[in-house]
Amino acid sequence: MSKNNILTEILGKIKPTLDEQQKMQKVADHIISLVDQVAAGSGLTDVSGTLVGSAARGTWISGEHDLDIFITFPEVTSNEELKNLGLKIARQVSASADRFEERYAEHPYIHALFNDFEVDLVPCFRVESAAQIKSSVDRTPFHNQFILEKINGLEDEVLLLKQFMKGAGVYGSDLRTGGFSGYLAELLIIHYGSFIAVLEAADGWKPAITIDIIEHGNKQHNDPLVMVDPTDPGRNVAAALTLDRFAGFIDRARQYLDSPGLEQFFPSLAAPLSDAEFESIMTERGTFLIAVVFDKPDVVEDVLYPQLFMLHSSIKDLLSRHKFPLLNVDVWAGDNEAAILLEIEVLHLPPVKKHAGPPVWEKIHAGSFKKKYIENKGISGVYIENGRYMVDIQRKYTDAAELLRNDLHACRLGKHVGENIKSGFKVLYGRELLKVNFQSFREFLTGFFHQNINQ
Ligand code: UTP
Ligand code: MN
Ligand code: MN
Repeated sequence: MSKNNILTEILGKIKPTLDEQQKMQKVADHIISLVDQVAAGSGLTDVSGTLVGSAARGTWISGEHDLDIFITFPEVTSNEELKNLGLKIARQVSASADRFEERYAEHPYIHALFNDFEVDLVPCFRVESAAQIKSSVDRTPFHNQFILEKINGLEDEVLLLKQFMKGAGVYGSDLRTGGFSGYLAELLIIHYGSFIAVLEAADGWKPAITIDIIEHGNKQHNDPLVMVDPTDPGRNVAAALTLDRFAGFIDRARQYLDSPGLEQFFPSLAAPLSDAEFESIMTERGTFLIAVVFDKPDVVEDVLYPQLFMLHSSIKDLLSRHKFPLLNVDVWAGDNEAAILLEIEVLHLPPVKKHAGPPVWEKIHAGSFKKKYIENKGISGVYIENGRYMVDIQRKYTDAAELLRNDLHACRLGKHVGENIKSGFKVLYGRELLKVNFQSFREFLTGFFHQNINQ
């Protein structure tokens, strides 16, 4: 299939039909008028609802019904008032929703479901310019204005780029993904001019690339990609993008330019591994899998994932301090449980370990080291290596699972994950992982191996 035919076919799948667009608009208008009514009913005539995000810009993908509706307050409003009144209005508006919940990340808001529409109701301040924001969400109306002015005619290119990024697993500025936000995709299209031009540019990207569309940036950033926010020069739109998602996009862009295909936009998922396949992979690799499983804290993903990543890095440190060589790690969260999966090279280390003392010429330290290990004999006598005293002593943990069971609670842990780990966790290994009875855990195991083996 030719390059153009591929893009036409993809657009046919991802571009909302006129009918879908009208339906979306109707729901948005309805909710906005509810916001205005509720605000006016509480005497807040200068508070109003406004549609922002991809739904307002014609850059949303068919089937994804995410409405970002902001409840804007005058700048003079206090933070307390914004929070209390904003949530009060959002709750009243959501009274007619199918369901809704309050969400707290950096900023409190309400997430509601109206028919099939996911609606974020976000209170914000109406400020003079994006450089004067009082809260990070106050930038969004400025983003909207900027994109609406520049995006005319390029909407389809944005849709292609967003879908391509989804296929590559790099779309989303949430803290779990650490990828490209919708706004970043829009700015890349505005800057380079088309979907293909973005891929061609990415082919030559190196970390610390800076894009400054209206040439007004004034702040140094230390990120793989810096997209100076045209509405706020001090802000990097790509601040959430991790090095590996940045590199992942470059890799996929090259792959597409070499041999374009539909499957890059809609990759097929690997079929979940059967028990037998799992066992044969484990035998072939000869490594050991350990999972630390615990109750999942009931917090939003942007709070949960940074804590799972912190747990992951604490476990890495713990294993490395005790000299268990680690190959791969990943995190998983299901409905009620969460886990860290570790692949280690050896499960057991010998009872003996080398312990280094001071250089022999550091007279005072050398003396006390030698005295200590002569009185309190190690497995070997004290000997010299590279000018230092050394002694072979007993290793505290010879079993990695036992180390985790005993010392994990003393690691640096995030608040919610820490509380749950302290109240108990399981350490499963090898074949025991096959007994975890969740489809999503098996899919995670499958992804863990495909990611590490097949690429
Ligand atoms: P959304 O996450 O809903 O993104 O944030 P979006 O642009 O509407 O894209 P999709 O189609 O839903 O995936 C809504 C708005 O909030 C701001 C942007 O202005 C965005 O359009 N925002 C969100 C950011 O500036 N940065 C972010 O990391 C997330
Ligand atoms: Mn959105
Ligand atoms: Mn949203």
